Amino acid sequence: MNVGIVGFGYWGKNLVRNFFAFEGCTLQVVCEQNTALHSQLAAQYPSVSITSDFNDLLKHDSIDCIVIATPVSTHYELTKLALQAGKHVLVEKPMTAAFNQAKELTQLAEKEQKVLMVDHTFLYTGAVRYIKQLIKQGGLGKINYIDSTRINLGLFQQDVNVLWDLAAHDLSICAYLLEKRPRSVQAIGVSHTDNAIENIAYLILKYDNNLIAHFNCSWVSPVKIRQMLIGGDKKMIVYNDTEPTEKVKIYDTGYEAKTDEERANLLVDYRTGDIQVPKVPMTEALSLLVQDFADAVKKGKKPDSDAQLGLEVVQILDAAQESIKHNSKVVCLQ
Ligand SMILES: NC(=O)c1ccc[n+]([C@@H]2O[C@H](COP(=O)([O-])OP(=O)(O)OC[C@H]3O[C@@H](n4cnc5c(N)ncnc54)[C@H](O)[C@@H]3O)[C@@H](O)[C@H]2O)c1
Repeated sequence: MNVGIVGFGYWGKNLVRNFFAFEGCTLQVVCEQNTALHSQLAAQYPSVSITSDFNDLLKHDSIDCIVIATPVSTHYELTKLALQAGKHVLVEKPMTAAFNQAKELTQLAEKEQKVLMVDHTFLYTGAVRYIKQLIKQGGLGKINYIDSTRINLGLFQQDVNVLWDLAAHDLSICAYLLEKRPRSVQAIGVSHTDNAIENIAYLILKYDNNLIAHFNCSWVSPVKIRQMLIGGDKKMIVYNDTEPTEKVKIYDTGYEAKTDEERANLLVDYRTGDIQVPKVPMTEALSLLVQDFADAVKKGKKPDSDAQLGLEVVQILDAAQESIKHNSKVVCLQ
Protein backbone atom coordinates (compact mmCIF):
# COMPACT_ATOMS: atom_id res chain seq x y z
CA MET A 1 0.00 0.00 0.00
CA ASN A 2 1.71 3.17 -1.22
CA VAL A 3 0.38 6.44 0.10
CA GLY A 4 0.50 10.09 -0.93
CA ILE A 5 -0.73 12.81 1.42
CA VAL A 6 -1.85 16.27 0.38
CA GLY A 7 -1.71 19.02 3.02
CA PHE A 8 1.02 19.33 5.66
CA GLY A 9 -0.77 21.91 7.80
CA TYR A 10 -2.00 21.62 11.39
CA TRP A 11 -3.80 18.27 10.99
CA GLY A 12 -1.89 16.93 7.98
CA LYS A 13 1.26 16.76 10.15
CA ASN A 14 -0.49 14.22 12.41
CA LEU A 15 -1.57 12.14 9.43
CA VAL A 16 1.93 12.22 7.94
CA ARG A 17 3.39 11.10 11.29
CA ASN A 18 0.92 8.22 11.61
CA PHE A 19 1.13 6.97 8.03
CA PHE A 20 4.93 7.19 8.17
CA ALA A 21 4.98 5.11 11.37
CA PHE A 22 2.48 2.51 10.11
CA GLU A 23 4.25 -0.67 9.09
CA GLY A 24 1.62 -1.79 6.61
CA CYS A 25 2.23 1.01 4.11
CA THR A 26 4.87 3.22 2.54
CA LEU A 27 4.39 6.95 2.60
CA GLN A 28 5.89 7.89 -0.76
CA VAL A 29 4.99 11.53 -1.41
CA VAL A 30 3.67 14.52 0.51
CA CYS A 31 2.16 17.34 -1.50
CA GLU A 32 2.11 20.77 0.14
CA GLN A 33 1.56 23.95 -1.84
CA ASN A 34 3.15 26.15 0.82
CA THR A 35 6.81 25.63 -0.04
CA ALA A 36 7.87 27.25 3.25
CA LEU A 37 6.84 23.95 4.92
CA HIS A 38 9.03 21.80 2.65
CA SER A 39 12.24 22.15 4.67
CA GLN A 40 10.48 20.89 7.83
CA LEU A 41 9.07 17.97 5.85
CA ALA A 42 12.46 17.12 4.36
CA ALA A 43 14.19 17.30 7.74
CA GLN A 44 11.64 15.09 9.51
CA TYR A 45 11.00 12.62 6.70
CA PRO A 46 14.09 12.47 4.45
CA SER A 47 12.87 9.32 2.67
CA VAL A 48 9.59 10.92 1.55
CA SER A 49 9.37 12.80 -1.76
CA ILE A 50 7.92 16.32 -1.69
CA THR A 51 5.90 18.18 -4.28
CA SER A 52 3.67 21.23 -4.41
CA ASP A 53 1.61 19.97 -7.35
CA PHE A 54 -1.34 17.66 -6.63
CA ASN A 55 -1.15 16.31 -10.19
CA ASP A 56 2.14 14.63 -9.23
CA LEU A 57 0.21 12.43 -6.77
CA LEU A 58 -2.45 11.64 -9.36
CA LYS A 59 0.11 10.71 -12.01
CA HIS A 60 2.24 8.62 -9.65
CA ASP A 61 1.48 5.05 -10.80
CA SER A 62 2.72 3.28 -7.70
CA ILE A 63 0.60 5.40 -5.33
CA ASP A 64 -2.68 3.61 -4.69
CA CYS A 65 -4.01 5.70 -1.78
CA ILE A 66 -4.34 9.46 -1.38
CA VAL A 67 -4.96 11.15 1.95
CA ILE A 68 -6.49 14.63 1.77
CA ALA A 69 -5.78 17.04 4.64
CA THR A 70 -6.53 20.39 3.02
CA PRO A 71 -9.25 22.96 3.89
CA VAL A 72 -12.88 21.76 3.64
CA SER A 73 -13.70 23.79 0.52
CA THR A 74 -11.06 21.83 -1.44
CA HIS A 75 -12.16 18.31 -0.39
CA TYR A 76 -14.70 17.78 -3.17
CA GLU A 77 -12.45 18.62 -6.06
CA LEU A 78 -9.35 16.82 -4.77
CA THR A 79 -11.29 13.69 -3.76
CA LYS A 80 -13.04 13.55 -7.11
CA LEU A 81 -9.75 13.83 -9.01
CA ALA A 82 -8.16 11.15 -6.82
CA LEU A 83 -11.04 8.70 -7.27
CA GLN A 84 -11.09 9.35 -11.01
CA ALA A 85 -7.36 8.60 -11.10
CA GLY A 86 -8.12 5.19 -9.56
CA LYS A 87 -6.86 5.91 -6.02
CA HIS A 88 -8.40 4.94 -2.68
CA VAL A 89 -9.10 8.06 -0.62
CA LEU A 90 -9.03 9.03 3.02
CA VAL A 91 -10.37 12.58 3.26
CA GLU A 92 -10.48 14.86 6.26
CA LYS A 93 -13.75 15.64 7.99
CA PRO A 94 -16.25 16.82 6.88
CA MET A 95 -16.19 14.97 3.56
CA THR A 96 -17.30 18.03 1.56
CA ALA A 97 -18.88 21.44 2.11
CA ALA A 98 -22.21 20.44 0.51
CA PHE A 99 -24.50 17.40 0.57
CA ASN A 100 -24.83 16.98 -3.22
CA GLN A 101 -21.03 16.90 -3.49
CA ALA A 102 -20.70 14.22 -0.81
CA LYS A 103 -23.42 12.17 -2.50
CA GLU A 104 -21.64 12.39 -5.83
CA LEU A 105 -18.32 11.30 -4.32
CA THR A 106 -19.92 8.38 -2.47
CA GLN A 107 -21.47 7.17 -5.73
CA LEU A 108 -18.23 7.71 -7.62
CA ALA A 109 -16.26 5.63 -5.10
CA GLU A 110 -18.82 2.83 -5.43
CA LYS A 111 -18.64 2.98 -9.22
CA GLU A 112 -14.84 2.95 -9.22
CA GLN A 113 -14.82 0.28 -6.48
CA LYS A 114 -12.43 2.34 -4.40
CA VAL A 115 -12.39 2.93 -0.67
CA LEU A 116 -13.65 6.35 0.35
CA MET A 117 -13.19 6.97 4.05
CA VAL A 118 -13.53 10.14 6.11
CA ASP A 119 -11.26 11.01 9.02
CA HIS A 120 -13.85 11.19 11.78
CA THR A 121 -11.08 10.71 14.32
CA PHE A 122 -13.24 10.47 17.44
CA LEU A 123 -14.72 7.14 16.32
CA TYR A 124 -11.30 5.65 16.97
CA THR A 125 -10.83 6.99 20.51
CA GLY A 126 -10.90 4.60 23.45
CA ALA A 127 -13.63 6.68 25.12
CA VAL A 128 -16.08 6.64 22.21
CA ARG A 129 -15.43 2.94 21.56
CA TYR A 130 -16.09 2.15 25.21
CA ILE A 131 -19.36 4.11 25.17
CA LYS A 132 -20.41 2.34 21.97
CA GLN A 133 -19.92 -1.08 23.60
CA LEU A 134 -21.84 0.00 26.69
CA ILE A 135 -24.78 1.24 24.61
CA LYS A 136 -24.74 -1.94 22.50
CA GLN A 137 -24.89 -4.09 25.63
CA GLY A 138 -27.90 -2.07 26.83
CA GLY A 139 -25.93 -0.60 29.75
CA LEU A 140 -27.58 2.82 29.45
CA GLY A 141 -31.07 1.56 28.61
CA LYS A 142 -33.06 3.57 26.10
CA ILE A 143 -31.12 6.69 25.06
CA ASN A 144 -33.26 9.78 25.63
CA TYR A 145 -30.86 12.63 24.97
CA ILE A 146 -27.39 13.76 23.97
CA ASP A 147 -26.16 17.18 24.94
CA SER A 148 -22.76 18.32 23.75
CA THR A 149 -20.64 21.40 24.37
CA ARG A 150 -17.66 21.90 22.07
CA ILE A 151 -16.35 25.40 22.63
CA ASN A 152 -13.00 27.16 22.86
CA LEU A 153 -11.10 30.14 21.52
CA GLY A 154 -10.89 28.40 18.16
CA LEU A 155 -9.25 29.16 14.87
CA PHE A 156 -11.79 31.04 12.72
CA GLN A 157 -12.09 29.03 9.50
CA GLN A 158 -12.22 30.99 6.25
CA ASP A 159 -14.45 28.61 4.29
CA VAL A 160 -16.95 26.99 6.68
CA ASN A 161 -18.83 27.94 9.83
CA VAL A 162 -18.33 26.61 13.34
CA LEU A 163 -20.79 23.74 12.87
CA TRP A 164 -18.92 22.37 9.86
CA ASP A 165 -15.72 22.66 11.85
CA LEU A 166 -16.77 21.42 15.30
CA ALA A 167 -20.22 19.79 15.13
CA ALA A 168 -18.83 17.47 12.46
CA HIS A 169 -17.14 15.65 15.37
CA ASP A 170 -20.34 15.42 17.43
CA LEU A 171 -22.43 14.29 14.49
CA SER A 172 -20.00 11.51 13.60
CA ILE A 173 -19.96 10.36 17.24
CA CYS A 174 -23.78 10.36 17.36
CA ALA A 175 -24.10 8.47 14.07
CA TYR A 176 -21.61 5.88 15.34
CA LEU A 177 -23.12 5.49 18.81
CA LEU A 178 -26.80 5.63 17.95
CA GLU A 179 -26.73 3.90 14.56
CA LYS A 180 -29.77 5.92 13.57
CA ARG A 181 -30.47 9.07 11.63
CA PRO A 182 -32.37 12.11 12.90
CA ARG A 183 -35.76 13.03 11.51
CA SER A 184 -35.26 16.78 11.68
CA VAL A 185 -32.61 19.44 12.08
CA GLN A 186 -32.84 22.95 13.49
CA ALA A 187 -30.04 25.44 14.02
CA ILE A 188 -29.30 29.02 14.91
CA GLY A 189 -25.98 30.79 14.49
CA VAL A 190 -24.39 34.21 14.51
CA SER A 191 -21.28 35.78 13.06
CA HIS A 192 -19.40 38.46 14.95
CA THR A 193 -17.11 39.24 12.01
CA ASP A 194 -17.58 40.85 8.61
CA ASN A 195 -17.42 37.61 6.64
CA ALA A 196 -20.87 36.31 7.75
CA ILE A 197 -19.41 32.91 8.73
CA GLU A 198 -21.11 31.88 11.99
CA ASN A 199 -18.67 31.60 14.90
CA ILE A 200 -21.30 30.55 17.48
CA ALA A 201 -24.08 28.09 16.64
CA TYR A 202 -26.55 25.79 18.34
CA LEU A 203 -27.88 22.71 16.63
CA ILE A 204 -30.83 20.48 17.59
CA LEU A 205 -31.61 17.08 16.13
CA LYS A 206 -34.81 15.15 16.73
CA TYR A 207 -34.98 11.40 16.30
CA ASP A 208 -37.79 8.89 16.58
CA ASN A 209 -39.00 7.95 20.08
CA ASN A 210 -38.40 11.38 21.61
CA LEU A 211 -34.63 11.13 21.36
CA ILE A 212 -33.20 14.63 21.16
CA ALA A 213 -29.62 15.85 20.63
CA HIS A 214 -28.31 19.35 21.20
CA PHE A 215 -24.91 20.77 20.26
CA ASN A 216 -23.35 24.03 21.40
CA CYS A 217 -20.39 25.03 19.22
CA SER A 218 -18.24 28.12 19.49
CA TRP A 219 -14.88 29.53 18.44
CA VAL A 220 -15.13 32.42 20.89
CA SER A 221 -15.21 30.84 24.32
CA PRO A 222 -12.51 31.82 26.85
CA VAL A 223 -12.37 28.20 28.05
CA LYS A 224 -12.08 24.93 26.21
CA ILE A 225 -14.94 22.53 26.91
CA ARG A 226 -15.39 19.19 25.16
CA GLN A 227 -18.22 17.59 27.06
CA MET A 228 -21.00 15.26 25.97
CA LEU A 229 -23.84 14.08 28.19
CA ILE A 230 -25.58 10.90 27.11
CA GLY A 231 -28.79 10.22 28.99
CA GLY A 232 -30.26 6.76 29.05
CA ASP A 233 -33.23 5.61 31.09
CA LYS A 234 -30.98 3.24 33.08
CA LYS A 235 -27.73 5.18 33.36
CA MET A 236 -26.19 8.42 32.13
CA ILE A 237 -22.71 9.27 30.89
CA VAL A 238 -20.57 12.35 31.15
CA TYR A 239 -17.86 12.15 28.49
CA ASN A 240 -15.28 14.86 29.04
CA ASP A 241 -12.62 14.73 26.36
CA THR A 242 -10.39 17.34 28.01
CA GLU A 243 -9.85 15.02 31.01
CA PRO A 244 -6.44 13.37 30.62
CA THR A 245 -7.51 9.92 31.82
CA GLU A 246 -10.97 9.93 33.44
CA LYS A 247 -12.79 10.83 30.24
CA VAL A 248 -15.89 8.71 30.80
CA LYS A 249 -18.01 8.76 33.95
CA ILE A 250 -21.06 6.53 34.19
CA TYR A 251 -23.74 7.76 36.56
CA ASP A 252 -26.20 5.27 37.99
CA THR A 253 -28.76 8.05 37.89
CA GLY A 254 -32.34 7.86 36.74
CA TYR A 255 -35.91 8.74 37.43
CA GLU A 256 -39.32 7.19 37.22
CA ALA A 257 -42.31 9.36 36.45
CA LYS A 258 -45.95 8.46 36.96
CA THR A 259 -49.15 10.34 37.47
CA ASP A 260 -51.07 10.03 40.75
CA GLU A 261 -54.40 8.28 40.98
CA GLU A 262 -56.42 11.34 39.98
CA ARG A 263 -53.96 11.77 37.09
CA ALA A 264 -53.55 15.38 38.10
CA ASN A 265 -49.95 15.46 39.30
CA LEU A 266 -46.81 14.03 37.86
CA LEU A 267 -44.87 12.14 40.50
CA VAL A 268 -41.18 11.73 39.84
CA ASP A 269 -38.94 9.35 41.81
CA TYR A 270 -35.26 10.12 41.48
CA ARG A 271 -32.46 7.63 41.82
CA THR A 272 -28.84 8.62 42.35
CA GLY A 273 -26.39 5.79 42.77
CA ASP A 274 -22.71 5.14 42.22
CA ILE A 275 -20.46 6.82 39.69
CA GLN A 276 -18.19 4.48 37.78
CA VAL A 277 -15.02 5.62 36.04
CA PRO A 278 -13.89 2.91 33.60
CA LYS A 279 -10.35 2.58 32.33
CA VAL A 280 -10.43 3.30 28.61
CA PRO A 281 -7.59 2.51 26.17
CA MET A 282 -5.39 5.52 25.40
CA THR A 283 -4.05 4.36 22.01
CA GLU A 284 -3.71 7.28 19.58
CA ALA A 285 -6.94 7.39 17.57
CA LEU A 286 -5.20 8.19 14.29
CA SER A 287 -3.10 5.03 14.45
CA LEU A 288 -6.32 2.95 14.66
CA LEU A 289 -7.85 4.98 11.85
CA VAL A 290 -4.82 4.29 9.63
CA GLN A 291 -5.16 0.56 10.43
CA ASP A 292 -8.89 0.67 9.56
CA PHE A 293 -8.12 2.40 6.25
CA ALA A 294 -5.46 -0.22 5.44
CA ASP A 295 -7.86 -3.07 6.28
CA ALA A 296 -10.46 -1.51 3.99
CA VAL A 297 -7.97 -1.16 1.12
CA LYS A 298 -6.24 -4.51 1.50
CA LYS A 299 -8.97 -6.78 2.87
CA GLY A 300 -12.16 -5.07 1.74
CA LYS A 301 -13.27 -4.54 5.38
CA LYS A 302 -16.03 -1.97 5.88
CA PRO A 303 -14.36 0.86 7.81
CA ASP A 304 -16.07 2.34 10.88
CA SER A 305 -15.77 5.82 9.40
CA ASP A 306 -16.99 4.88 5.94
CA ALA A 307 -18.35 7.12 3.19
CA GLN A 308 -21.95 6.47 4.28
CA LEU A 309 -21.31 7.83 7.76
CA GLY A 310 -19.43 10.79 6.26
CA LEU A 311 -22.35 11.43 3.94
CA GLU A 312 -24.84 11.44 6.82
CA VAL A 313 -22.73 13.97 8.69
CA VAL A 314 -22.63 16.29 5.67
CA GLN A 315 -26.37 15.90 5.11
CA ILE A 316 -27.08 17.13 8.64
CA LEU A 317 -24.57 19.99 8.35
CA ASP A 318 -26.14 21.01 5.06
CA ALA A 319 -29.60 20.97 6.65
CA ALA A 320 -28.29 23.00 9.59
CA GLN A 321 -26.91 25.59 7.20
CA GLU A 322 -30.32 25.83 5.53
CA SER A 323 -32.02 26.18 8.90
CA ILE A 324 -29.69 29.01 9.95
CA LYS A 325 -30.29 30.76 6.63
CA HIS A 326 -34.07 30.54 7.02
CA ASN A 327 -34.47 31.86 10.52
CA SER A 328 -34.03 28.49 12.28
CA LYS A 329 -36.75 26.67 10.39
CA VAL A 330 -37.08 22.96 11.08
CA VAL A 331 -35.57 21.02 8.17
CA CYS A 332 -36.92 17.47 7.80
CA LEU A 333 -34.55 14.81 6.50
CA GLN A 334 -35.73 12.18 4.04
N1 LIG B 1 -9.91 15.09 12.34
C1 LIG B 1 -9.64 16.09 13.14
O1 LIG B 1 -9.72 16.01 14.37
C2 LIG B 1 -9.24 17.40 12.53
C3 LIG B 1 -8.63 18.40 13.29
C4 LIG B 1 -8.26 19.58 12.65
C5 LIG B 1 -8.51 19.76 11.30
N2 LIG B 1 -9.12 18.75 10.60
C6 LIG B 1 -9.42 18.91 9.17
O2 LIG B 1 -8.19 18.89 8.45
C7 LIG B 1 -8.31 19.69 7.28
C8 LIG B 1 -7.16 20.68 7.24
O3 LIG B 1 -7.25 21.49 8.38
P1 LIG B 1 -5.94 22.17 9.00
O4 LIG B 1 -6.37 22.79 10.27
O5 LIG B 1 -4.80 21.22 8.99
O6 LIG B 1 -5.68 23.31 7.91
P2 LIG B 1 -4.30 24.04 7.57
O7 LIG B 1 -4.67 25.28 6.86
O8 LIG B 1 -3.45 24.13 8.80
O9 LIG B 1 -3.57 23.04 6.57
C9 LIG B 1 -4.00 22.82 5.26
C10 LIG B 1 -2.74 22.68 4.40
O10 LIG B 1 -3.14 22.26 3.10
C11 LIG B 1 -2.32 22.93 2.16
N3 LIG B 1 -3.03 22.91 0.86
C12 LIG B 1 -4.25 23.42 0.57
N4 LIG B 1 -4.60 23.15 -0.70
C13 LIG B 1 -3.58 22.43 -1.24
C14 LIG B 1 -3.36 21.85 -2.52
N5 LIG B 1 -4.25 21.93 -3.50
N6 LIG B 1 -2.18 21.20 -2.72
C15 LIG B 1 -1.26 21.11 -1.72
N7 LIG B 1 -1.43 21.63 -0.49
C16 LIG B 1 -2.58 22.28 -0.23
C17 LIG B 1 -2.15 24.33 2.74
O11 LIG B 1 -1.03 24.97 2.21
C18 LIG B 1 -2.00 24.00 4.23
O12 LIG B 1 -0.65 23.82 4.60
C19 LIG B 1 -9.68 20.35 7.34
O13 LIG B 1 -10.56 19.60 6.57
C20 LIG B 1 -10.09 20.20 8.81
O14 LIG B 1 -11.49 20.11 8.98
C21 LIG B 1 -9.47 17.60 11.19
